[in-house]
Amino acid sequence: MIEIKNDIASAIAEKIKELNSDVTMDISQIASMLEYPPDSKMGDLALPCFKMSKTLRMAPVKIAATIAEGFSAPCVARAEAVNGYLNIFLDGQKMSEKVVCEILERKDKYGAPDLGKGKTVVLDYSSPNVAKPFHIGHLGTTVIGHSIKKLHEFAGFKCVGINYLGDWGTQFGKLITAYRKWGSEEQIKVGGVDALVELYVRINNAIAEDASLADEARAEFHKLEEGDEENLKLWKWFIDISLEEYQKTYAQLDITFDSYKGESFYTDKMPAQVQRLRDMGLLKIDDGASIVDLEEYGMPPCLILKRDGSTLYPTRDIAAAVYRKQTYDFDKAIYVTSAGQSLHFAQWFKVVELMGYDWYDKLVHVPYGTVSINGEKLATRTGNVILLRDLFATAIEKVAGIMEEKNPNLAGKEKIAEEIGVGAVVFYYLSNNRTRDINFVMEDALSFEGNTGPYVQYTYARTCSVLSKSQSFDRSAPLTVTVPEEADLVKVLSRFEENVIDAIDTYEPSVITRYILDVAGAYNRFYHNCSILGAENEQIKNTRLALTEAAKTVLGNAFGLICLAKTERV
Ligand code: ARG
Repeated sequence: MIEIKNDIASAIAEKIKELNSDVTMDISQIASMLEYPPDSKMGDLALPCFKMSKTLRMAPVKIAATIAEGFSAPCVARAEAVNGYLNIFLDGQKMSEKVVCEILERKDKYGAPDLGKGKTVVLDYSSPNVAKPFHIGHLGTTVIGHSIKKLHEFAGFKCVGINYLGDWGTQFGKLITAYRKWGSEEQIKVGGVDALVELYVRINNAIAEDASLADEARAEFHKLEEGDEENLKLWKWFIDISLEEYQKTYAQLDITFDSYKGESFYTDKMPAQVQRLRDMGLLKIDDGASIVDLEEYGMPPCLILKRDGSTLYPTRDIAAAVYRKQTYDFDKAIYVTSAGQSLHFAQWFKVVELMGYDWYDKLVHVPYGTVSINGEKLATRTGNVILLRDLFATAIEKVAGIMEEKNPNLAGKEKIAEEIGVGAVVFYYLSNNRTRDINFVMEDALSFEGNTGPYVQYTYARTCSVLSKSQSFDRSAPLTVTVPEEADLVKVLSRFEENVIDAIDTYEPSVITRYILDVAGAYNRFYHNCSILGAENEQIKNTRLALTEAAKTVLGNAFGLICLAKTERV
């Protein structure tokens, strides 16, 4: 649609020049003014003429009427002036020829905007704290983060996905103490990350009873910091055990990372930044701690060093950002975390700016809202956590049950149930604007009717099934569009690229889930109203197969942007 809009904009620009030869308007500026009317009776596109009225010194109604007169542009059937709007009606046949031809030609590149050539984006997401549960609160950072990565890759950016593991800190002292007291190699080998979490919970409870245990834990962490071999070995092992578990979840989502450099990696990179802060006179001592005062910027101080000189979360983030800038020379560094960390990011972004790093404005925090399940808030402390792994397992099991009833002989049904179960959770989650707090209702997510993952995956499978039932069709044969549902489908397909750009600009994967629902809706209306394989003649059948292939391509490309598997059979 972008090209069609540009053609229309350039025809409008010509008309404007005729109206007033002193005024020239930018084509891209006009194109950006074109709107999609809420009702197709008002055309497929509309130009509101109110803003131009001042520059052209003419009433909007008159401008619209003058442009409408004898208006012509490629793919346009006619234009009408109504109340200061220029309503534009597209020619379904011509537009379909253009759009479908482009989709069939560009295939998996269709819809990809050319935004990122030569640019690098670093994305920090998922980043769980090792040996703590990987729970539903991490769903957001994981799937929103990965989706934003996929969107940027699609647009030609070079992307570096970083899993900034929480792999350092006093919790390891606690874990080592607990392991020596109550754990065994066998127990961890069998129990994996669950056994680690159990030890962690046990030691926290024990510390509440007996404070001397906390000193012991601190001493163990100190030994670890000093490079004690035994402790280092345990620490590495705990991380491996945890990663093994996370990998299972990442595999289900088809997520891989380019780097797993966690917090521990930056230990030796912090002193230089602390020194820079000190040299620049930015550090203030407050009750023994070193802080950067941010009162001037309406924020509480950013903590850099504790009283005992140990570093903090912001200190590490600053050192990590400097390292990443040096290593990847990013054009943008994106951090995806819950909105609860917004202040933390605003603070240290400001500190980076005060430190004189001119790339401070390339740091972007992408926050998201909280998740509750069936109305219940989650709290790690009270043990009310739902592990991501268990959430997926429940979804998969339910889908398998439904499939067993509907289609018990389906080949490869385990894999399909997994794709749909995981897809249901992901799609449901990404259907919301990311900053909204959401309440997760499993029944709603899994429904095959309504705006769900199973519904859109089912629609994709439908396009596959139509195509596999037909003989191959002639891709170069001219299209013959005969009913409105066909042109309506093509109009939706033509808007893919605009939606991708919007999703990238706003860091909002829900733009894509919403768009997928539009495509699925338009395809299903077309499917139900037009006979495809039994079409009245070969040419119409060929057209409808081409439309099906086009819908399949767009759905598939869009699925790839939001961690949704392209399930070919259900
Ligand atoms: N590990 C942190 C947590 O689970 C998230 C890290 C986010 N990334 C960052 N660079 N601070 O809350």
